[in-house]
Amino acid sequence: MYERPPVRVVVVGAGNVGSTFAYALLLSGLASEIVLIDANAERAEGEAMDLAHAVPFSRPARIWAGEYADCAGAAVTVISAGASQRPGETRIDLARRNVDVFREIVPRIADAHPDGIILVATNPVDVLTHIALRLSGLPPNRVIGSGTTLDTGRFRAALGDLYRVDPRSVHAFIIGEHGDSEVPVWSLANIAGVRLADLPPMGGGIDDRAALGAIFEGTRDAAYAIIERKGATYYAVAAALLRIVEAIVRDQRTVLSVSSLVDGPYGLHDVCLSLPSVVGRNGIEEVLTLSLTPDEEAALGRSADLLRRTLAAVGDA
Ligand SMILES: NC(=O)c1ccc[n+]([C@@H]2O[C@H](COP(=O)([O-])OP(=O)(O)OC[C@H]3O[C@@H](n4cnc5c(N)ncnc54)[C@H](O)[C@@H]3O)[C@@H](O)[C@H]2O)c1
Repeated sequence: MYERPPVRVVVVGAGNVGSTFAYALLLSGLASEIVLIDANAERAEGEAMDLAHAVPFSRPARIWAGEYADCAGAAVTVISAGASQRPGETRIDLARRNVDVFREIVPRIADAHPDGIILVATNPVDVLTHIALRLSGLPPNRVIGSGTTLDTGRFRAALGDLYRVDPRSVHAFIIGEHGDSEVPVWSLANIAGVRLADLPPMGGGIDDRAALGAIFEGTRDAAYAIIERKGATYYAVAAALLRIVEAIVRDQRTVLSVSSLVDGPYGLHDVCLSLPSVVGRNGIEEVLTLSLTPDEEAALGRSADLLRRTLAAVGDA
């Protein structure tokens, strides 16, 4: 009888983001083996037990708290391990602490699975994707950051609300850093090929420019607004991670705004940031080059400069 090999997904960092992603993954039925690894072994064990008890109500899967050796053969290893920002802590200091975490875990993942794919969620995600790339020795197409996948989703959802269409019919991307310098590509945003700029006013006397500006600000600042209210964000990022993992495991060649090494397009070199990219079984299959306006290209350049400065400040991996 033909038997399919198991699809294993490993999650390193079974905190809010990692365990919520593991739960979404379990419910999706995409993975037949889910491994949780955490510096806090008891946490990983507790999460694995709790998740395993959801199996009878969801899809068959083996779930366990594992070791780095379990990364061998994984379709994807997701890294959501790391510290969160302390009150008053700068982004650079947080980045330094998480670089230390990555120094500890990335070589162990790569040793166990030198042909694997690493998907980084830990913040600052673009800088840590670069660090993971250096520390792992994997080829650039196999080290991916969740990047602005989540931001692009939030952006499309808000535009869908405004234009009263299904967000899946809105084609619009946020590119650059996942963070304050991210860039909305307004010039190419469209609904069914109709550029937003050419759509009639939405009615009700809405000032389009102000409404669109507020949509981008709401997208960019969403994490701050959620953290202020509930202390962390994890559902939407877990769903975004699931979407990326699905594109890889099912070789869907989906265009997603994930973060990866950019070397050449727009005159950018040796920086990890998000651009619309074809994601499939080899990770990044292709990075698309957009016809940006000069303003958008300049904003992307500023975002890249900021990321390069942060990378330089946190030191060599
Ligand atoms: N990319 C995105 O869009 C996005 C969205 C939300 C959160 N995040 C980021 O995800 C990360 C995790 O957030 P969270 O809310 O799950 O945090 P959390 O504190 O709940 O979980 C982090 C986990 O990492 C573990 N950990 C720490 N050091 C480790 C090490 N050396 N080895 C193994 N495990 C280790 C901790 O024990 C903890 O269980 C943060 O960096 C956060 O900023 C990213």
